[in-house]
Amino acid sequence: PTPMIIDTDPGVDDAFAIALAATSQDVDLLAVTTVFGNVDLEQTTANALRLLAVCGREDVPVAVGAERPLVHAQRHRDSTAHGDDGLSGFAHTLPDRSTGVDPRTAVRLMADVLEAADEPVTLVAIGPLTNVALLLAAHPEARAKIGRIVVMGGGLGRGNVTAAAEFNIWADPEAAHRVLAGASGDLTLVPLDLTHRCAVDQAWLGALRDSGPLGRTLVGLTPAYQETYRRSLGWDGIVVHDAVAVAEAIAPNLLRTNAFPVEVECSLGPARGATVVDGRSAAVRESHGVLAKGVHVAVDADVDQVRAFLLDRLSTVD
Ligand code: BDR
Ligand code: CA
Repeated sequence: PTPMIIDTDPGVDDAFAIALAATSQDVDLLAVTTVFGNVDLEQTTANALRLLAVCGREDVPVAVGAERPLVHAQRHRDSTAHGDDGLSGFAHTLPDRSTGVDPRTAVRLMADVLEAADEPVTLVAIGPLTNVALLLAAHPEARAKIGRIVVMGGGLGRGNVTAAAEFNIWADPEAAHRVLAGASGDLTLVPLDLTHRCAVDQAWLGALRDSGPLGRTLVGLTPAYQETYRRSLGWDGIVVHDAVAVAEAIAPNLLRTNAFPVEVECSLGPARGATVVDGRSAAVRESHGVLAKGVHVAVDADVDQVRAFLLDRLSTVD
């Protein structure tokens, strides 16, 4: 099994992502760490604990991370796509486990888990990158134990929370900049463009709902999220961004990637949080003095295969 740590801000699509990792036989889920993001830290932590309980995985340690970005105070998020409680208003219907939190900080738990690991660990970041940046700054030795970092974030010249920026990067651009700048060919970025192409429809949601208790619970967390896509994009379905990233973490090369240098816009202007993906050819980049090899950006996939992978994994649980 792939040893894995998930850093998350649940979030409806985070719920799908956590369930995917927590119930896949070929994943050894070593820890879940929480960060502010879709809702505040207290709520994302409560949601992570509840979701693991739903999956029968109370054994997975959950530790609390950053409640705000590294440098600049978080600007207000206008839309509550995930509902006030992060799970479309249904968090209270899940088992409550407020006492189940690990006493260590998120960074300490990640560092301890990595130190103890005897094979490379895949770190999947599906919220703002604050905890990951702090881990890499405070524990540079941990880096050698991380085999891969898979990040859901960014866009190829587009955003969702602003015209230019995707939410996870926008929520803490300075952290994202540090994480991406420090990557050495071991980081895969799963951007908005790709996750949107893997959007799932009512037939997919219906099949998941009918597959059993876990599927029914997950689909039951989607009403507010569905409403967001209906209202904003006219879609009758949802985008499970974070679950696509976890799918790639479980099955490397499920997504097709290209290596591109990526920079994060950290100015306070309108492009704050944008990912600037250098899609020029290597020769042109070199002629302009850009030598960075870059990160693996997911640019394409057999989207039906991705949807089938997600449905199959999330359905085969009693
Ligand atoms: C990302 O932002 C959050 O709203 C989702 O959970 C996902 O991680 C998509 O932009
Ligand atoms: Ca998320």
